Amino acid sequence: MSSTQVATVHGDAPTKNAALLAWVARCAQMTQPDRIVWCDGSEAEKKRLTEQAVKEGILLPLNQEKRPGCYLHRSNPNDVARVEHLTFICTPNKTDAGPTNNWMDPEQAYTKLGLLFDGCMKGRTMYVVPYAMGPLGGPSTKVGVELTDSIYVVLNMRIMTRMGKAALDMLGDSDDFNRGLHSTGDVNPDRRYICHFPQDNTIWSFGSGYGGNVLLGKKCLALRIGSYLGREEGWLAEHMLILGVTDPKGQTTYVAAAFPSACGKTNFAMMIPPKSYQGWKVETVGDDIAWMRVGPDGRLYAINPEAGYFGVVPGTNTKTNPNAMATIAKDTLFTNVAMTADGDVWWEGKDGEVPEELVDWQGRPWTKNSPDKAAHPNSRFTAPMSNNPALSPKANDPQGVPISAIIFGGRRSNTVPLVLQAFNWTHGVFLGATMGSETTAAATGKVGVVRRDPMAMLPFCGYHMGDYLQHWLDMQKAITHLPKIFQVNWFRQDKNGKYLWPGYGENMRVLEWIVNRVHGRVPTQETLLGWVPRQGDIPTQGLDLPPDAIAEATSIKADEWKSELKSQEVFFEQLGTKAPEALMLQRKLLISRLGS
Ligand code: GDP
Ligand code: PGA
Ligand code: MN
Repeated sequence: MSSTQVATVHGDAPTKNAALLAWVARCAQMTQPDRIVWCDGSEAEKKRLTEQAVKEGILLPLNQEKRPGCYLHRSNPNDVARVEHLTFICTPNKTDAGPTNNWMDPEQAYTKLGLLFDGCMKGRTMYVVPYAMGPLGGPSTKVGVELTDSIYVVLNMRIMTRMGKAALDMLGDSDDFNRGLHSTGDVNPDRRYICHFPQDNTIWSFGSGYGGNVLLGKKCLALRIGSYLGREEGWLAEHMLILGVTDPKGQTTYVAAAFPSACGKTNFAMMIPPKSYQGWKVETVGDDIAWMRVGPDGRLYAINPEAGYFGVVPGTNTKTNPNAMATIAKDTLFTNVAMTADGDVWWEGKDGEVPEELVDWQGRPWTKNSPDKAAHPNSRFTAPMSNNPALSPKANDPQGVPISAIIFGGRRSNTVPLVLQAFNWTHGVFLGATMGSETTAAATGKVGVVRRDPMAMLPFCGYHMGDYLQHWLDMQKAITHLPKIFQVNWFRQDKNGKYLWPGYGENMRVLEWIVNRVHGRVPTQETLLGWVPRQGDIPTQGLDLPPDAIAEATSIKADEWKSELKSQEVFFEQLGTKAPEALMLQRKLLISRLGS
């Protein structure tokens, strides 16, 4: 198809980029939309699309006095979380995807999904959504274009990324952009596929309307394709929040932390230090994804490629996360929360009394005595980061921030102590590689089962996990000033299932120790697993804790470690010959230290 014909198909396409026009034309030929709309990211466009979404029942307006600019979306009840079993890495060789990913041959995937996409947008509109991941014009920033038939996706992408004309301008005539094709299809879980083609910088997502499956800039591009590109190009794409913590003297330390989905990234990134930390300040650079490169000074610099937060709603309140409460007070899209009689939103763990009556996340009447949850456990907010009162002034800095500490953390009711510092980089990579975490509602499947989740990247690594861990080890040579590596666990429980550590803002007490360790301000104590705070180094004044809570939260139990080592072994065996030698050595050292 020549470019003049393309122009007629596209009406007035706001670009002359031949590669982009040709690809849009090819996708349109396959999906056959009635209309093609190029999104410019303007306020007028937002208004028009929001009105249309309301008219079509895709968005329900909330009480505009209480929550100006806020809307509720109810997804199909079969489509409320990421679908890891339907997510594929499509590389010519199966081994390149590795044992931890589902694999499909690219030819087969294009054919199989091509049949689903064939004519799927008849009667619908195809939106062309150009977007940038990262501050516009930055050296790490990447452009993607998502073609979608969902207004909900467009309105979410508008919050989550720098979307529209600015991204198109940044792209210019380059053909270096991620090609994302999405259709909600008929929202049938038997016809749902999230396919990644790293070699083609392409993503095809069919049959879902849920965030992690369809906001293609996020987990699909920024992590799966990103991690693949990171290895090719010598940088890291990680499932990490980024925060800056400033001490009373005014020194800011930047920290990146990887926790699996629904294990506390957004909360930690927006944390407000407790009263006893007068003069301390925590500011958010990012809450989910970090792209990290070595800077000219040999330090590791991180940017947040996103522009908004796609956060877990349940449990958010003015005590656990006041900054999030302020962030979602306006211009926020809520997905699968409950609605109050006066048109406000409600969820389990919100402040105040539980309302007598609500409309639940599926639109059904709900009363206080109902056995079901009113909001879905994986209900979400999509809010612009500019709403965050604690947004770091560096969040839009194209150079990013220098990282001094990297933290790995999982959700573990036992075994893993509150905090440890790794002996060195290789040991730190080992701590990250051997992370385990209990599954959450962020992905479909059973909740609360421990699984190995190396660096919180199990569902997001776009290539062989063994090569990924080796890439982490290799990065050591490129970084002159290595960040210190730590491990945390906020989720240890007592025998009655109660959390031993208060968490949330109180995590500042652990963060302070981490900052002190980074700057060499406190001595430490060596254990079999790593360095830990000496008694009293984590201040507990003002905490209402049972006498042995800290001892219990920091304890290392031989029997628990026996089974932990076994489970780690199964993971490393899965990597086969690609299990990095340096990590196998770390494992041997740990076994000999533990004497098991
Ligand atoms: P993310 O998906 O990694 O960004 O996780 P979130 O920050 O959204 O938190 C997920 C869930 O874990 C929410 O229900 C939070 O209330 C809960 N959570 C977050 N931080 C803590 C913590 O420090 N302690 C405890 N006990 N729960 C937490
Ligand atoms: P998160 O990710 O839970 O890590 O914020 C969103 C998702 O899993 O879709
Ligand atoms: Mn989050």
